[in-house]
Amino acid sequence: MIIPQQLHNDACRVCTHAENELIHVDCVSHVYPDGSLGIHGMCFKVLEKEIVALCGPNGSGKSTLIEHLNGLLRPSSGSVTVMGKNIDLSHAHIWREVGIVFQRSDDQLFAPTVLDDVMFGPINMGASLEQARETAMEALKAVGAENLSDKMPSYLSGGQKRLVSIAGVLAMKPRVIAMDEPTSDLDPLHAEMVENIILNLKNNLGISVVIATHDLDMAARISDRICIVKEGSIIAEGKPSSIFYDKNLIEMSGLRQPKVAQIYEGITKNLGVDMENCPITADELVKTIASMIRQN
Ligand SMILES: Nc1ncnc2c1ncn2[C@@H]1O[C@H](COP(=O)(O)OP(=O)(O)O)[C@@H](O)[C@H]1O
Ligand SMILES: [Mg+2]
Repeated sequence: MIIPQQLHNDACRVCTHAENELIHVDCVSHVYPDGSLGIHGMCFKVLEKEIVALCGPNGSGKSTLIEHLNGLLRPSSGSVTVMGKNIDLSHAHIWREVGIVFQRSDDQLFAPTVLDDVMFGPINMGASLEQARETAMEALKAVGAENLSDKMPSYLSGGQKRLVSIAGVLAMKPRVIAMDEPTSDLDPLHAEMVENIILNLKNNLGISVVIATHDLDMAARISDRICIVKEGSIIAEGKPSSIFYDKNLIEMSGLRQPKVAQIYEGITKNLGVDMENCPITADELVKTIASMIRQN
């Protein structure tokens, strides 16, 4: 059994502050009521207008960290600051700033119709029925699910439920949206839709997105920054091109390199040439291989 106070480092020596940070998780540890350690000495930040991926195997602490970002879970030690405010001291508006899309959409959808569900957030924030309906329809449109507005959530497919869950969070117009395993259990079409929605949230709406995933192929395609989570802490972070080409780091973290990195490493090894680039998307890989062929 771990006593929370024993975990606390008064001054975190690892965390650095960035000027454009929206969320700062400062050396947070969380012990669940049964004594299990969820995260330990976790230092993490979310910057303005970025997609940051938390990549780690099952049980590494991704969901526990995500639930700290809007106060659903409170640190046993350490602190979380959102838009410069300590969550413990000022809790009231945090859920407006940071929305969470849960891994299981059934945990999130509860109203009789999709539209009612997505209107719930705006109404709770004081919008009139008419305003709430308009905001909800905009959010549904942004995820390509406006045609589902009259349906009963329980009759939707898994992919449709995921889109509606995202719309429900988006309707509250948060600055940050955290998504727990956003593409797990989805067919390729819906997984691609969700990837495009994440990119759209950042590029067109200026929302920062945190994704927790062990799908490194997806993380490689869309993330600006990768954080490798192992045994409750972030053990490495950086650009996808530097993190995903560190084979030892990825494998000792219980993960596997994205396919693009595996293929490029395999080809250069096979040809006996140095790796000159670090392609991360399929498109970059194609261009790199085409240029290798042209040079020969
Ligand atoms: N409600 C809970 N009660 C007790 N232990 C938990 C609970 N939720 C998660 N844990 C434990 O916390 C650790 C981190 O879990 P989690 O954050 O769910 O990891 P991930 O999302 O990376 O799979 C695991 O050891 C897990 O067993
Ligand atoms: Mg999880």
